Amino acid sequence: MSDFPKDAASCVQLNDGHVMPWIGLGVWETPPDETANVVRTAIELGYRAVDTARLYRNEAGVGEGLKGHPAMFVTTKVWNDEQGYDATLRAFDESARLLQRDVVDLYLIHWAMPQQGLYVETWKALIELKKQGRVRSIGVSNFEKDHLQRIMDETGVVPAINQIEIHPFFQQQELRAFHKSVGIQTEAWRPLGKGTVLKNELIGDIAKRHGKSPAQVILRWHLQNGVVVIPKSVHRERMAENLDLFDFVLPEREMEAIATLHRADGRMGENPANPVFG
Ligand SMILES: NC(=O)c1ccc[n+]([C@@H]2O[C@H](COP(=O)([O-])OP(=O)(O)OC[C@H]3O[C@@H](n4cnc5c(N)ncnc54)[C@H](OP(=O)(O)O)[C@@H]3O)[C@@H](O)[C@H]2O)c1
Repeated sequence: MSDFPKDAASCVQLNDGHVMPWIGLGVWETPPDETANVVRTAIELGYRAVDTARLYRNEAGVGEGLKGHPAMFVTTKVWNDEQGYDATLRAFDESARLLQRDVVDLYLIHWAMPQQGLYVETWKALIELKKQGRVRSIGVSNFEKDHLQRIMDETGVVPAINQIEIHPFFQQQELRAFHKSVGIQTEAWRPLGKGTVLKNELIGDIAKRHGKSPAQVILRWHLQNGVVVIPKSVHRERMAENLDLFDFVLPEREMEAIATLHRADGRMGENPANPVFG
């Protein structure tokens, strides 16, 4: 844990030389008309990054909340129906306009959607946006090993990030090891796993032992695994709680105990090999 984050503003260095905070605020399902206030609260509490997407319909609220804070790190993503080279360039223009940013810190392909056959072209558009200086870093989300291998083989450009579902019930150890082998930083979506993970007995016991909450134990577990996290909350106390992770350490035996919670059927979201959205 030599380069372990020491506080909420600590950053990890990406494979393109840029840095990104280890902790950010997720805003999936944050209502668009509440988003600006939620983001302002997050900044007051010490958050230095926000994760949004075209899909969330709240990029305008994020842009509003970030006004006057040019150093805040912002991530957004191209949605499935805007994949393809030209469509992605257009989608990016709209995201940048809504975010009120000339330069976006991190732009991701939200899902590979292999059945559409467009993710390589989409990746080429992200490479172009980076060349033009409109995004600092480019990455992907929900890419499996073969999708990653294909974009790397066809373009020679390694994504800075792969943002994937990870929580104690679905730990993605193999994909994380692959990321490490090629220099991709892993970022966890659904890091708290919602409901049942937060209520898990083992997590609860560990939390009691440290005088922390289940959410804090889970987020600390991610950080100790070298994974960037973007927990979502619209509640000030929870947002504060989710940043307060630096006054305790999970010993190896607790890390190993949490590792046993993985379940083959623990995935909560779509399967990236063949995602079906309603
Ligand atoms: N790339 C992708 O495909 C993808 C998919 C899903 C999500 N994401 C990103 O990842 C972010 C996080 O994932 P997520 O929102 O699905 O799930 P999450 O962050 O794991 O969990 C959020 C849920 O937990 C509650 N919560 C937050 N902090 C808590 C705490 N300290 N104690 C108890 N409950 C707490 C929140 O409720 P309240 O808000 O009511 O506090 C909310 O219901 C998203 O917001 C989004 O930015 C990306």
